[in-house]
Amino acid sequence: MENLFDLLVIGGGPAGYLAAERAGHAGMKAAVAEKRALGGVCLNEGCIPSKAFLNSAKMYDHARHSEAYGVTATGVSIDHAKVVARKNKVVKQLVSGVGMKMKQNHVTVLNGVAKITGRSAEGFTVTVEGQTYTAKRLLIASGSVPVVPPIPGVKEGVAAGYVMTNREILDMTEVPKELVVIGGGVIGLEMASYFNSIGSHVTVIEMLDKIAGPTDREISSILLKNYQKKGVDFKLSCKVVGVSEGSVSYEEKGEQKSVKADKVLLSIGRRAFTQDLGLETIGVYTERGAIVTDEQMRTNVAGVYAAGDVNGKIMLAHTAYRESEVAVNNMLGRKDVMRYHAIPSVIYTNPEVGAVGETEESAKAKGMDVEISTVSMKYAGRYVAEEENGDGICKLIIDKKYKRLLGAHLIGSYASEIIYGAALMVETEMTVDSIKELVFPHPTVSEIIREALFEAKI
Ligand code: NAI
Repeated sequence: MENLFDLLVIGGGPAGYLAAERAGHAGMKAAVAEKRALGGVCLNEGCIPSKAFLNSAKMYDHARHSEAYGVTATGVSIDHAKVVARKNKVVKQLVSGVGMKMKQNHVTVLNGVAKITGRSAEGFTVTVEGQTYTAKRLLIASGSVPVVPPIPGVKEGVAAGYVMTNREILDMTEVPKELVVIGGGVIGLEMASYFNSIGSHVTVIEMLDKIAGPTDREISSILLKNYQKKGVDFKLSCKVVGVSEGSVSYEEKGEQKSVKADKVLLSIGRRAFTQDLGLETIGVYTERGAIVTDEQMRTNVAGVYAAGDVNGKIMLAHTAYRESEVAVNNMLGRKDVMRYHAIPSVIYTNPEVGAVGETEESAKAKGMDVEISTVSMKYAGRYVAEEENGDGICKLIIDKKYKRLLGAHLIGSYASEIIYGAALMVETEMTVDSIKELVFPHPTVSEIIREALFEAKI
């Protein structure tokens, strides 16, 4: 039967397209339904476009601020509209690459909104653009959407265009004079970093007393200082109470204040997207709007799996990749389980932040007996050779009893590329002694892990 699939995936983002690809590769007849563009938020309006932006900013910063390295450039400028155009080219290339992968793995791409309608004798029924499809299994990978808070003026601002989410800001070709970022998490900081570099005056309003969410406190404070030095204004422990065209009002220690705003970025988090999917027709269980999954990515309904942001666990593309592989492996009868304790996270600011595993705070809160070893990045020769006045650090969290690495937290150049090595050590439960026997390439900033280990009093 033409419209009968072994697996129908709802959502073509990192979780969805990879699941379809892996399933197709393993010989399943797979389909993926996508209402916008393959690649989802990550490829079209998240991870990838923001990295294109940030790389342009880095090049611009290097060109302007390299006198200490013996490099002086004059007449340097940045054309934001060109940065956006290049970003669009990068996105187009990668989206078409995902399309190619679908073809190579004989995956049927269904363009349109998918809605589960129930069951038939053959499996689950799903409609896409008026057409009905049947699948023996479903994988729900419908992702997440930005949280839009009920703050007065926000809804109107979104409708009028001066309040943006990650989607709109990445397509904006003008450079706002005053950009106000609500929420000092990952999206807020990466966008604050870019617009600060290209000339906007940026104010970040964050309700907590620190930026970068669950990031290690010491690292979060180094990041804060770096961006304060670059001219970003931070309003910490502040609550936004209203947004209007031209300004944002907030409360600081009970006092109402306001700040000028030509544009406002809303980056206070994301929530799982499960609206109008027809989950109720087959009884898929959700909790606070997210689909509940077990360690094999199964939902409460046999044959229905969920992966990626929609399960509300760790909203990162690389988590989604692995979850989708776990789901497909289990569908194929290969027992596989999802582990969340060694998922690295990165903030692509300048300096970069890379982290994995327990933080000092989380380990102590769990009552773990840990040794904390913190060293300056200056212990790595390459860092000193390449960074003038760098204030990066590497902080390791080590289990005293079992002498195992539980967490690693870095701020400094290449942290984004180094962190996977630390994640490997945490995931494979390497002991400090065996890590000490590893040979790191010299000179690289990655040697900082080794330095921090040898400094540890263990
Ligand atoms: P987030 O959860 O990282 O940060 C939201 C921040 O907003 C928090 O610090 C929170 O305290 C603050 N906040 C919440 N309500 C507020 C309010 N009313 N006023 C002021 N501050 C408020 O969320 P974000 O930055 O929107 O990112 C969404 C998702 O996208 C995250 O799950 C993140 O993991 C993912 N992402 C990952 C990236 C990466 O891995 N490099 C890059 C960008 C996004």
